Amino acid sequence: MQANHSETVQEQFDAQAQAYLQSAVHAAGPDLLRANELIRQVIPASRGRLLDVGCGAGHLSFAVAGALASVVAVDPSPNMLITVGKAAADKSLQNIRTVQASAESLPFDDAHFCVVASRYSAHHWLDLPNALKEMRRVVKPGGYLLMIDIEGDENALVDTHLQAVELLRDRSHVRDRSPSEWGRLIADAGFSDIAHQNWITRLAFEPWVTRMRTSPERVAMIRAMQREAPAEVRQALAIEEDGSFSMKTGLWWAQRQEI
Ligand SMILES: C[S@@+](CC[C@H](N)C(=O)[O-])C[C@H]1O[C@@H](n2cnc3c(N)ncnc32)[C@H](O)[C@@H]1O
Repeated sequence: MQANHSETVQEQFDAQAQAYLQSAVHAAGPDLLRANELIRQVIPASRGRLLDVGCGAGHLSFAVAGALASVVAVDPSPNMLITVGKAAADKSLQNIRTVQASAESLPFDDAHFCVVASRYSAHHWLDLPNALKEMRRVVKPGGYLLMIDIEGDENALVDTHLQAVELLRDRSHVRDRSPSEWGRLIADAGFSDIAHQNWITRLAFEPWVTRMRTSPERVAMIRAMQREAPAEVRQALAIEEDGSFSMKTGLWWAQRQEI
């Protein structure tokens, strides 16, 4: 029988925890610096509690732990959580705790965290609207939402190509949301004062497919799509000779709105 989406996510990520710990795209970036800056602006030094949903190998948690009293790093993949625990110990970060869970069902009390956050994970979530509502439930009134993810494109042609190569590369891909989709989703979940910024992120082809163990057949399909892509798509995604390309990393910062 065909695996369901949660099983596919587990298959895709559980074996790849080390690859994500070492991934250059994940380990650094201007978004991590900005996340740290935003948190320091609103949370009194080392006082707040942050939830990192879909923590993967833990790079967002590591980047912000120094500004907070505690971080809870959540992921459905047991090996990701083991990797986070070991890497946090190596970095002498003692205020990071790991919990196995999915974004759509967070095992925490209402209004428990000062900041709820997620980076490069939401495009895998089966039910993003409900996951955002869960994040709103567990953040304090007046607390903050920080979402970082690959952006979908507002141009339908470019967006269709982006989502297609994403799905060919990774069976657990659901959807990269565009800035306008994010704006609606975040507002509908009960957050206001939404601020957005983005950065160009270049994806080197070989590490991009190797990290997800994309099969040779699927790599060939991606290469064919890139070869045959119309000029508008080649230009928007800055597709290079070897298949490397660029997309945008978006960051959204918002505050829990009281109804
Ligand atoms: C690319 S990794 C995350 C990278 C990490 N946040 C960082 O900053 O480097 C994506 C993670 O999302 C997790 N994930 C997938 N579906 C999820 C869901 N529904 N809820 C929470 N996490 C999920 C995967 O298990 C995987 O570890």
